[in-house]
Formats: sequence, C-alpha cells, structure tokens
Amino acid sequence: MLELTINQQTYQVDVEADTPLLWVIRDTLQLTGTKFGCGKGLCGACTVHLNGIAIRSCITPVSSAIGQPITTIEGLGSAEDPHPLQSAWLTHNVPQCGYCQPGQLMSAAAFLEQNNNPSDEEIKIAMTGNICRCGTYPRILKAIKDVASTNSSGTFYNAAESTTADK
Ligand code: FES
Ligand code: FES
Repeated sequence: MLELTINQQTYQVDVEADTPLLWVIRDTLQLTGTKFGCGKGLCGACTVHLNGIAIRSCITPVSSAIGQPITTIEGLGSAEDPHPLQSAWLTHNVPQCGYCQPGQLMSAAAFLEQNNNPSDEEIKIAMTGNICRCGTYPRILKAIKDVASTNSSGTFYNAAESTTADK
C-alpha cells in the first residue's frame, strides 16, 4: 500500500510502485480532470504539480511521488474560488474541445510561480510542451499575460494550493 497526498487529501493506494502516476490519479482515484494523451511525455495533457513543479504524470512512477504534495486540476481552483488563470481562461474563451486545457492550466500555473513577469517569448517556451490540437495557443498567451500583468505580488496559487506547495 502506498500513501499519496493529492489536493491536500491523503490516499492509500494498492498499486505497483512503477505504475504511472496518471493511472493512479485517473483510474484508481477517479480524478479524471487530468487527461491521457500520448502516454509518452510528449503532449502535456497529463500535467500535474509535484511539489509545485509541473510534471508529466504519464511517465512518472507513482513511487517517486510518495511523500510529496501532488496537485491536480481539481485542486488548482474551484468554481467558487478559481485560480486567476482559470478566470482568465474564461475571459479569453480559451478552451475549444477542452481536452488539453487541464494540462495547459497546470503548466501555466507552475510557470507563473517561477516567473511572474514573463515576456511573450518566455511564455511560449514554457508552454511549448503542451500541445493543443484546436490551436488555442494565441488565447492561452493572452490569458497568461493578463494574469501576469495583474498579479505583481508573484503569488498566483489559490489558498488551497499555496498551502500544499509550501509543505
Ligand atoms: S499523456 Fe503525458 S505527456 Fe502526453
Ligand atoms: S482545446 Fe482542444 S486540444 Fe486544446
């Protein structure tokens, strides 16, 4: 039995140590906001935060996440208390089919924690590993720039995740 902390909740999971974290998140724990795309670390659909860092959960063995806070899209914000990026995503009508968007948001959120005043080029480089077949890249860029320009404090996580990331 392995113990994981996801979105500030503790879970005991009976899986092999080398099971991809994505499998555990989606199939074992039914947190289906995180998506399966390529399964090879190439598309970003499965992006979650491990210790506040954006990682590809499809190529991360669950054993390497033990003892570290994990945040999925379900923990980034809520309808009542959205992450600033989620609000900007709505303002700019970013999602099309929506499939890639949880991963896009998780990558963007982790990036802004590292760089709160990014240039367009820095945003593009940071987001380059997140593929969108609907081509929402220009809207994603605008939404991230909006959040960066209105949050000079450098802290973007909502209250729930900042507690998790600081653990
Ligand atoms: S599903 Fe993990 S990077 Fe594509
Ligand atoms: S919104 Fe459809 S894949 Fe990105």
